[in-house]
Amino acid sequence: MSIDEKKQAWQSAVEKSMAKAPERKSSFRNSSDIELDRCFAPEFEYPGYEENLGFPGQFPFTRGVQPTMYRGRFWTMRQYAGFGNAAESNERYKYLLSAGQTGLSIAFDLPTQMGYDSDASMSRGEVGKVGVAIDSLADMEVLFDGIPLDKVSTSMTINSTASILLAMYIAVAEKQGVSADKISGTIQNDILKEYMARGTYIYPPKESMRIITDIFAYCKDNVPKWNTISISGYHIREAGSSAVQEVAFTLADGIAYVEAAVKAGLDVDEFAPRLAFFFNAHNDLLEEVAKFRAARRMWARIMRDRFKAKDPRSQMLRFHTQTAGCTLTAQQPDNNIMRVTLQALAAVLGGTQSLHTNSRDEALALPTEESVRIALRTQQVIAYESGVADSIDPLAGSFMVEALTDKIEAQALAYIEKIDALGGAVEAISRGFQQKEIQDSAYAYQRSIEKNETIIVGVNKFTVEEGAPQGLLKVTDEVEVKQKASLAKMKEGRDSAKVEASLKALEQAARGTDNLMPFILDAVKTYATLGEIANVMRGVFGIHRETVVL
Ligand code: 3HC
Repeated sequence: MSIDEKKQAWQSAVEKSMAKAPERKSSFRNSSDIELDRCFAPEFEYPGYEENLGFPGQFPFTRGVQPTMYRGRFWTMRQYAGFGNAAESNERYKYLLSAGQTGLSIAFDLPTQMGYDSDASMSRGEVGKVGVAIDSLADMEVLFDGIPLDKVSTSMTINSTASILLAMYIAVAEKQGVSADKISGTIQNDILKEYMARGTYIYPPKESMRIITDIFAYCKDNVPKWNTISISGYHIREAGSSAVQEVAFTLADGIAYVEAAVKAGLDVDEFAPRLAFFFNAHNDLLEEVAKFRAARRMWARIMRDRFKAKDPRSQMLRFHTQTAGCTLTAQQPDNNIMRVTLQALAAVLGGTQSLHTNSRDEALALPTEESVRIALRTQQVIAYESGVADSIDPLAGSFMVEALTDKIEAQALAYIEKIDALGGAVEAISRGFQQKEIQDSAYAYQRSIEKNETIIVGVNKFTVEEGAPQGLLKVTDEVEVKQKASLAKMKEGRDSAKVEASLKALEQAARGTDNLMPFILDAVKTYATLGEIANVMRGVFGIHRETVVL
């Protein structure tokens, strides 16, 4: 297809898209009264343009997944939040929505992520700390009280217990009169990066993959607007990987999930349109922009050529970005506002669909309301004042950005070949391959900071004497006491015979091959707790023990 033919195809896609979602303005002009092209493209011979770049919303999607991108709709401003008990987090979500955020993102505490109730001994000291404590459907009802689940999309950062939280969310929506086919959102549900980098795994890989593909199959038929997985590079990068490793290891995980779902009997175009991704935005702005563009092009070709996906939506890499938590410094915390701004700009110039901006004080404690407001305002200033959202993929054609996009793609593909040779991502993880590569990168980066080769402003240069920071938000241990009391009270009021029966049915399903989701949904509706449900599956599947990486 010639560049002109691709441009005509794109223009008709634009008209179709605008019928559904008109652009934000009738014309986009700058202060010099220059009309901005929707998408600037070469007016000269540009070898490889059609094949490697194309137009937005067109294979290989290098320039973006939507024909009109941010002219039609800004990225979702989706701040990750959650702490204490459900009532406290509900208050923060309402505050963020009132401040203009356009999507919800739930942070759960470690016991919830690890499948323990707040009254379990393993939960001691962690209840409500790094996220909200959820023990049962009763807590989820409080968490979303007054938030209409047919009007907002909700991301839940939950992995090993994703099936349980998704079931609770469906049950809460039903209680609001919203059927499962009307809710939209995402569960992270990406267990491979937990084995590789983040650590909140419970069950062995095989059993975890079964739960994940059960969720794919269940949502395909019952929750069609739900993104069933957020294949994450964020934590791989937070663990110290390079940008190339972040892309390579994330897409290799994506390949493993698609292979598992196809092996489980699903047709690739039945589930792939609802796969989503999640990347980090680190400090090097131009490297990050190139990384996002390379990732989109790689995934498009992997899905078309390796998995024969026909539906263009199966070939689109739609992603959320969080600015890099690991770059936040405790020293001179206000410097973090500038870091986050540059990182957020990289995500937008790279075409993200959804964005979380970190708060300046998060290297010290949970963010205060003022800090989260500044973080959200950072996105709003970029969206409404910087002009970068008014023309699509504006850095395309830059000699440096296109060269970096090509180089990152080539190096990431080389890693994927290595992982394929090891038998795929699951096998490579079991051998510690990715973990070792990440550790080596992390060590090299840390050494470069210690040798002042990498400058961190306020840390190894431009330092000042500063007192202890004031006014930080802390979660007290009384949350744990309160949460355990409300859990005990909830248990008194439920029908324990129904709970027992639902857990028994779940156990039988886990021992067989039935899709687990209907059984988990039945159990949460009897107010069986997250820990009780997770324990049934522990009893059947066992638990994963990490291989030691030498
Ligand atoms: N024209 C027309 N339509 C458009 C458009 C345009 N220009 N732009 C978007 N749209 C449409 C989309 O097609 C979509 O409609 P559809 O669902 O019918 O297709 C709708 O508008 C919403 O757009 P997106 O789907 O692009 O945006 P969302 O925000 O809904 O979804 C996502 C983005 C990446 C696909 C999704 O998976 C998501 O929201 N992910 C968020 C994940 C997240 O927040 N993770 C946080 C993790 S925190 C963590 O792990 C770190 C901790 O451990 C420290």
